[in-house]
Amino acid sequence: MTVLSDSLHLHPDQLGSYWMPFTANRQFKAAPRMVARAEGMHYWTPEGRRILDGFAGLWCCNAGHNRKPVVEAIQRQAATMDYAPAFQMGHPLAFELANRIARLAPEGMDHVFFCNSGSEAVDTALKIALAYQRLRGEASRTRLIGRERGYHGVGFGGISVGGMVANRKMFGAMIAGVDHLPHTLDLRHMAYSRGEPDWGAHLADELERLVQLHDASTIAAVIVEPMAGSTGVIVPPRGYLQRLREITRKHGILLIFDEVITAFGRLGTGFAAERYGVVPDLITFAKGVTSGAVPMGGVVASNAIHDAFMVGPPGAIELFHGYTYSAHVLACAAGVATLQLYEDEGLFERAARMAPVLEDALHALKGTRHVIDIRNCGLVGAVELEPRPGAPGARTFDAYLGCWEKGVLVRQAGDIVCLAPALIVEEAQIAEMADTLRAVLQTID
Ligand SMILES: Cc1ncc(COP(=O)(O)O)c(C=O)c1O
Repeated sequence: MTVLSDSLHLHPDQLGSYWMPFTANRQFKAAPRMVARAEGMHYWTPEGRRILDGFAGLWCCNAGHNRKPVVEAIQRQAATMDYAPAFQMGHPLAFELANRIARLAPEGMDHVFFCNSGSEAVDTALKIALAYQRLRGEASRTRLIGRERGYHGVGFGGISVGGMVANRKMFGAMIAGVDHLPHTLDLRHMAYSRGEPDWGAHLADELERLVQLHDASTIAAVIVEPMAGSTGVIVPPRGYLQRLREITRKHGILLIFDEVITAFGRLGTGFAAERYGVVPDLITFAKGVTSGAVPMGGVVASNAIHDAFMVGPPGAIELFHGYTYSAHVLACAAGVATLQLYEDEGLFERAARMAPVLEDALHALKGTRHVIDIRNCGLVGAVELEPRPGAPGARTFDAYLGCWEKGVLVRQAGDIVCLAPALIVEEAQIAEMADTLRAVLQTID
C-alpha cells in the first residue's frame, strides 16, 4: 500500500473545527488515529498502515468494508436519482427494502418505518408505542420502561430510557415518566459464561415490581436491547427475554427490542428475536441494514400496531412523524444490495458458524493479566479488565491503543474490550485479534 494523497495528511492546525462525537477531543487531536481507506476486514491509515477491523467499524459493517455490490449499487443510484421526497411520495427501492426487511422479521411483523440512525429509530419506536396505546383507548399508558446500562442512542427519548449515567446526567430532566429495570450483569454469578448465562432470568420479574409501583394502566412500553452492546456486552440470561415477553403481554405493555446492533446477523440470525424465539411488538434497527455504508435506521412494527393506525378517512395522514431523509434513495440502494449480499454469501449462517471460534479464542484469554471476565454471544465478544485503581477505563484505553498500534481495531467500553468483527471474518483473523489482545495485556500496567 503506497502513501495516500497529501490531502489526507492534516496539519495539527487543521484539527480544531471538527468537534468529534463521543471522543476525548483534546487527547485525540494530540495524537490522532486516522483511517483513510477500507476493504473487506481491513482499514488503512493515511500512511498506509493496515488495521484489522475487529469491530465492523462501529458494530455496523457486517458484510465487511467496501463490498463491491454495495459500492456499485450506491454509485448507480447516485448517478440515477439523488433524492426523492419521503412525504406523500415514494420510490420503488423503499418498498423493496421494506419488503425484504419484513421477510427477515418475525412472522406478524410486516411493516417498516424508515429513519436515518439508531437514535431516530428509538425515538420513532417510542412515539409509535405511545400513539398506539392512545389509539387503542389506553391513553393513560404514557410511562416508558428502559433498563440500567441500556444504550438507545442519544435523542431525548433514547437517553431517557437508556441507562448510561454519562449520557444522561448533563441533560436535565429528559422525558418524564420513565423507569428502569435492573441490568443483568453480575460477575459473581456469571463470570466466564459461554454464551447466554444460566443465572439471571428472574431479573425480568423486576418488571412485576414496577407494575405494582406504577400500575400497568400507566405503562406504554418496555424497551431493551436483546444483547446490550454499548455498555460492554451484556448477554441476556437464559429465559430472561422470554419472561419479559410473558410479563409485558400479561399487562398490555408493548415490548420493544432495540436491535440496532443485534439485527442483520450479529447473533447468527436475521434478528435476535429469532435467536431467542421471542416476538416483540416493535423492533428498531440501523447499522447493519446498509452494512454501515449509508446512514439508515428504522422500526419494524407488528401488524396489530400498524393496522391500528390505518383507520379514519383514507386521505388522513395516519402518523405525524417522519424525516426528510426517511428511506433516502442512496440508503435504500445500499440496503437492498446489502441484504442481497447477506443472502448470497449466507453471512448470517456464517456468523453462527464462526461464533464458537470467537468464543474459544476469547475464552482462551482466561488467566491473562488484568482479565476478570470473558463473555460472548454470536459474533460479539467482550473481555472485562480489572480497572486501574482510581482511574476507571484508563487501563482499557491503553489496551485499545496498544491493539491499534499493533494493527487491530477493538472497541473500549469503560473497562471492557469489545470485539464484533464483520460476518466475513476468517478464523486466522479471529486468532490475530485474540493474540494481539493477549500480547497487549501482558505489556500494559
Ligand atoms: C442498541 C442501540 N440503539 C441505538 C443506538 C444509536 O444508534 P445511532 O448511533 O445510529 O444513533 C445504538 C448505537 O450504537 C445502539 O447500540
